[in-house]
Amino acid sequence: MPPRSRRLAVLPVVASALLLASCTSQVQAEDGFAKQAVTMLLPGQESPRLSGSTGVLAQAAPQIPAVVAPAGPMRLHPRPEVDCDQSKCVALTFDDGPGRHTERLLDHLAAADVPATFYLLGQNAQKYPETLHRMVIEGHQLGSHTHDHKALTALSSSQITHEIDTAAAIIKDLTGVHPGTVRPPYGAHNAQVDALIDAPLVLWDVDTLDWQHRDPAKVASIAMEEVRDGSIILMHDIHESTVKAVPELIKRLKQQGYTPVTINELFDGQEFNSSTAYASRNQIR
Ligand code: NI
Repeated sequence: MPPRSRRLAVLPVVASALLLASCTSQVQAEDGFAKQAVTMLLPGQESPRLSGSTGVLAQAAPQIPAVVAPAGPMRLHPRPEVDCDQSKCVALTFDDGPGRHTERLLDHLAAADVPATFYLLGQNAQKYPETLHRMVIEGHQLGSHTHDHKALTALSSSQITHEIDTAAAIIKDLTGVHPGTVRPPYGAHNAQVDALIDAPLVLWDVDTLDWQHRDPAKVASIAMEEVRDGSIILMHDIHESTVKAVPELIKRLKQQGYTPVTINELFDGQEFNSSTAYASRNQIR
């Protein structure tokens, strides 16, 4: 079975596990891959959702295929491990969503078998719970872009904490995944913001200016001009023009030997500390 079909085949099972997980608060994944959801599918373990209340579902339970628990941490959609000391890595990041074009973006990323990191607004995450589930299932990383996109440098301490905590709670409630990194709106941060955020702040070193020109060709050409080994590329999945640019951008990155990775993968084996702002794998800002 080709990989895409296999992924679709396990999707309902995994989706059930995620739903179940959010009900029972057992998911403790930190890195966007819902590790615990997988361990809930041990062979012979009966799902509480399938017993008791409805006879039809209870009868269907024995036909659910057993899924063997992994020996160690895994993604729901596994990809080969990438060592960014050996490979030219780049992180594609998308801010301000989800929005109405995000599902199309997920289609493009799935077709290219490429992971991305989504810096979600809490207020938009609430509107697209299915899109969030899909991001987790398909191996993307979820990050926080605060609840409603205020410049944190203009807020009081309690307002900053509220922005961060509200977005994190919404994302965790919807997916079981805690957004382990934060991208402050406008990249605006200062000593007070840094001190209050108990997570790495992830900025960027490649700004496609996609929100300004809305031109797919420019998104790809600016990114290819500025990208370096270890770069973080800033884009916005709320713009259709950006989503349209992604297949060509991925094609050109791969042609030049880049491996697209998540933010956690980009910093794997590196210092990646809370209250510190990173512009790329090699650059603190
Ligand atoms: Ni933003």
